[in-house]
Amino acid sequence: MLPPRSRHADDARRPPRPTTLVVDLEAAAHNIRAVRQMVGPARKVFAVVKADGYGHGAAELGAIFVAHGADALAVADLGEGIRLRQRGITAPILVYPSSLPEAAPDALGHALIPTLVDLDGAHAYAEAATGPCDVFVKIDVGLERLGVPAEQAVKVIAAMLELPHLRLAGLCAHPHAPGGDDHAYAEWQLGRFTAVVDELQTRGIGVPIRLLAASPFVLRFPQTYLNAVDPGRMLYGITFAGETPPVPLRPTLRALTTRVIALKELAPRERFAELAPFPVTAPMRLGVIPMGSADGLAWLHAGRVLVRGRAVPIVGSPSLEHTRIDLTSAPDARVGDEVVIIGRQSDAEITVAEVAERHGLGLHHVATTVGPRVARVYTS
Ligand SMILES: Cc1ncc(COP(=O)(O)O)c(C=O)c1O
Repeated sequence: MLPPRSRHADDARRPPRPTTLVVDLEAAAHNIRAVRQMVGPARKVFAVVKADGYGHGAAELGAIFVAHGADALAVADLGEGIRLRQRGITAPILVYPSSLPEAAPDALGHALIPTLVDLDGAHAYAEAATGPCDVFVKIDVGLERLGVPAEQAVKVIAAMLELPHLRLAGLCAHPHAPGGDDHAYAEWQLGRFTAVVDELQTRGIGVPIRLLAASPFVLRFPQTYLNAVDPGRMLYGITFAGETPPVPLRPTLRALTTRVIALKELAPRERFAELAPFPVTAPMRLGVIPMGSADGLAWLHAGRVLVRGRAVPIVGSPSLEHTRIDLTSAPDARVGDEVVIIGRQSDAEITVAEVAERHGLGLHHVATTVGPRVARVYTS
């Protein structure tokens, strides 16, 4: 089980600094069940918890995904895989390519499944292994990023498997998924992948796990499911235009909140008014919140926050650790009041979508932009 990290709603409502990202674990459980419903009981689901579970907390979200139907987890940072083991996660963990060959002993020492993309890496794992060593090989089918180019893959994989200890546990790919509904492009990438599988099988090399579809393909192209899928963002309830899951997904990011830690009344300056950090042309009730650009706030606010159910403007720019808010229109506000930066308060709401659009972020980059010092608080 996971060692406690003061991650439960009631404790963490009072973290030393009252700035929190509130994560809905029930939504996460719902979303992994929805994926299971879409792909059926027989296929393997690798739940992607890369980038610290898309900013929500890899261990906490990973534990929920495994408890509610994932067969394995996937990360793209060996260090993150190691941390998941240290947090007590025992499920299989696939590590997408992220390290140099010299890291092979670390990966094997923590029972992580490496993804190979070249012979140098294969040699390193063959040397580090003391017994059978399951590896995945990644094929590049169209993203032009990591992976053995599809047309060279059979030769490279055959050479890898001549090395001692290495066993092919699976092939994976991360296809290119521009928006839209281009079945032909999806089919072409799928075809490049299955051609490798077929040719390996002709040569007597079995491919136990065949993994290609991440969220855009799970959501749009069921013909690409093969016998395993590795969705990421959809598990956090993030979908884009044109993606309509049969079961609606639920956002796991419920709120980004803080509290008023100081209040004061400002009067217009009689001297140096033009040098003031922001214009004060009338009496102003100023509040300060303990979150700043060091926590990502410069890219996470909508220009206003919610206090006592009302929208109040942010004043000036966030500094590293603090941000000013104008509480003139909220004379009843007090030190300790909840301040919602993203989320709902009474009838008012600031959505993730609004914040993402304002700062040109992808929806799946909002939680990852929330700095690691912001306490993740889990509700269910
Ligand atoms: C190799 C790989 N598989 C799966 C995923 C999950 O992608 P998505 O969040 O679109 O589901 C990622 C994320 O970038 C990835 O790099």
